[in-house]
Amino acid sequence: MSEPVVPRTVLVTGGASGIGRGVAEAFAAAGERVVIADLDEARARAAAMEIGAHHVQVDVGDAASVEAAVAAVVAAHGTIDVLVNNAGHTAGGGPLIGLDVDVFDSCARVNFRGTFLMTRAVGAHMVERGVRGCMVNISSIGARQPTPGLGHYEATKAAIDALTRSAGIELAAHGIRVNGVAPGPVLTPMTAMFATDDAARKAWESRIPLGSIAQVADIVPAVLFLASDGARHITGVSLQVDGGQLLA
Ligand SMILES: NC(=O)c1ccc[n+]([C@@H]2O[C@H](COP(=O)([O-])OP(=O)(O)OC[C@H]3O[C@@H](n4cnc5c(N)ncnc54)[C@H](O)[C@@H]3O)[C@@H](O)[C@H]2O)c1
Repeated sequence: MSEPVVPRTVLVTGGASGIGRGVAEAFAAAGERVVIADLDEARARAAAMEIGAHHVQVDVGDAASVEAAVAAVVAAHGTIDVLVNNAGHTAGGGPLIGLDVDVFDSCARVNFRGTFLMTRAVGAHMVERGVRGCMVNISSIGARQPTPGLGHYEATKAAIDALTRSAGIELAAHGIRVNGVAPGPVLTPMTAMFATDDAARKAWESRIPLGSIAQVADIVPAVLFLASDGARHITGVSLQVDGGQLLA
């Protein structure tokens, strides 16, 4: 990919691991100025050093932490042009009727509240500075297709899809686009059990028409595309990248 004429500042939440790290690395390789924003500062620093990026510590579920992190990035780099709302977790799992309320709250706090808080802070910054930027929210096909035991997590992803549409329509007049990428299962630390639990891996693979669980590299190009000028007429969508799982 050719170097951008003017590098954009790209903020990737949860960029110290998994999909976020892959996204951060790809933007950095494309010549953009990348800031990894993660709860785990040590891993964020290490990842940033490895890929030639910057880092900032943030807890996306905490409003004061989000405001401070966004202010620090703006002070250091002038503007935030691309926000990738990627930080997320399941926090646990189990049938809804037995789910620990703390698991529900933790999942909702990071995924739903975190996406809202980051969208609020960075959106306000973009509008105030006249930045015609974009956001890409990492959802999940679970928002549209249930897997027993992940109901709490999937509800947060459906909420993220709703935020994508709402932010998309509210920010369109400012030239700001908001889209989502909805992966099926991806091999990352979050799904580490696929490496050790052969039966679980086979059960997930059997649901995927294209036959394999995604690698991070299968997800990254969709994020870069939605953040590119080639997607200038696209806003409010959640693009599934799932090997056809939603067709099955
Ligand atoms: N792995 C999959 O199968 C899969 C499938 C669909 C969607 N997703 C979504 O992709 C995103 C990334 O998942 P992953 O598999 O790469 O996970 P991961 O566990 O490898 O990485 C998640 C990162 O988010 C960070 N994080 C967690 N809580 C945070 C907080 N409060 N504030 C800031 N950072 C925080 C972690 O420190 C970690 O670096 C998540 O939103 C996840 O829901 C993953």
